[in-house]
Amino acid sequence: MTTWTPAGRKRPAGGPARRFAAPAVLALCGLSSACGSAWAQGDAEAGEAVFIAANCQSCHTDYANDGALLAGGRALKTPFGTFYSPNITPDPKTGIGNWSDEDFRRALIHGRAPDGARYYPVFPYTSYSGMTDQDVADLKAYIFSLPPVEKANRPHDLKWPFSWRWVMAPWQWLFFHPERFAPDPERDDLVNRGAYLVDTLGHCGECHTPRNRFGVLKDDMHLAGQEEGPEGGIVPNITPDPETGIGNWSDNDITWLLITGFLPDGDNVQGGMGEVVEHSTSRLTDTDRQAIAAYLNSLPPIVHQVGPPRETGDTDTGGGGDEFDY
Ligand code: HEC
Ligand code: HEC
Repeated sequence: MTTWTPAGRKRPAGGPARRFAAPAVLALCGLSSACGSAWAQGDAEAGEAVFIAANCQSCHTDYANDGALLAGGRALKTPFGTFYSPNITPDPKTGIGNWSDEDFRRALIHGRAPDGARYYPVFPYTSYSGMTDQDVADLKAYIFSLPPVEKANRPHDLKWPFSWRWVMAPWQWLFFHPERFAPDPERDDLVNRGAYLVDTLGHCGECHTPRNRFGVLKDDMHLAGQEEGPEGGIVPNITPDPETGIGNWSDNDITWLLITGFLPDGDNVQGGMGEVVEHSTSRLTDTDRQAIAAYLNSLPPIVHQVGPPRETGDTDTGGGGDEFDY
């Protein structure tokens, strides 16, 4: 139990000294916001695994126009207008090459830009805010090991008043209270790892949990699906209710979907979920996929019919389209 880390991996050599020092520095961290970078030395190799589980590349790469990895420009359509993801390659001019460790940490954990501006939650920092400092540091080391690409950011095209970035200040103040992920001692290690993968890194709830009218995820409907997903279509209930969710799926059905994109009925997932499988879940370790299945099956089942009930043999689950509208 004591060896569990949210990242679920062995620390590379050189770790023990750092690990030893960490608790003391961590205690000081509570008193100073300018910390985190002081002790968390990033490891690029470990960071690649975080990058995959968090699927940063889907939104930050403009696949439709053959865009370079992480160079941004991908259109994400929402009811508030169209967002264009920024360049997060280590290019110093147009990307984030000049960012300090603390700038990077603050963006992911607090949703704040280096100049203090607030990010729109279409960047799912609302989920990433649970990340451990070590994972954030590793992730930065990995992203900074990738090739810099010079490509200027395209401004978002948003409807008023959302075009005023400052409206995000009251929104964050009211609705965003960053909480670091903490393993639940009542659950076993695999389930805790699954919770970290699903709720923090994989940000599954950003699509699978319905929102209230302020765009805030409804806690009591965690992963219960929604009719109006990011792509305007149905996002299924993935709680273990047998009728309206995935309660009839075995752990193997879930891991098979996460590897291949195939549903138990032989159909395959499309659109946003297709990308999640392609760039993220198919590239996880087997243990991580089992952890996701174990966590999903441990959740309280929520009865919530999203879209028409699935008939046996019915191959249309309502997702679809190549365009990724967020
Ligand atoms: C669902 C789509 C989505 C995902 C997934 C996503 N991002 Fe973003 N990200 C965005 C958007 C859109 C913005 C712009 C937000 C704004 O302008 O307020 C953004 C902004 C950022 C910024 C600020 C860049 C700047 O120039 O100010 C950083 C850094 C960043 N993302 C890193 C990441 C990392 C690292 C990951 C993976 C852990 C990630 N993003 C995953 C959509 C996404
Ligand atoms: C970008 C939005 C998005 C994200 C993020 C996302 N999903 Fe999905 N998911 C969907 C959509 C849409 C579908 C339906 C796809 C289809 O049927 O073509 C789906 C389908 C599924 C299904 C099949 C359920 C069924 O009854 O058909 C499972 C299981 C699932 N997702 C699990 C996950 C897990 C686990 C994560 C996080 C690692 C995740 N999803 C992240 C959008 C998303």
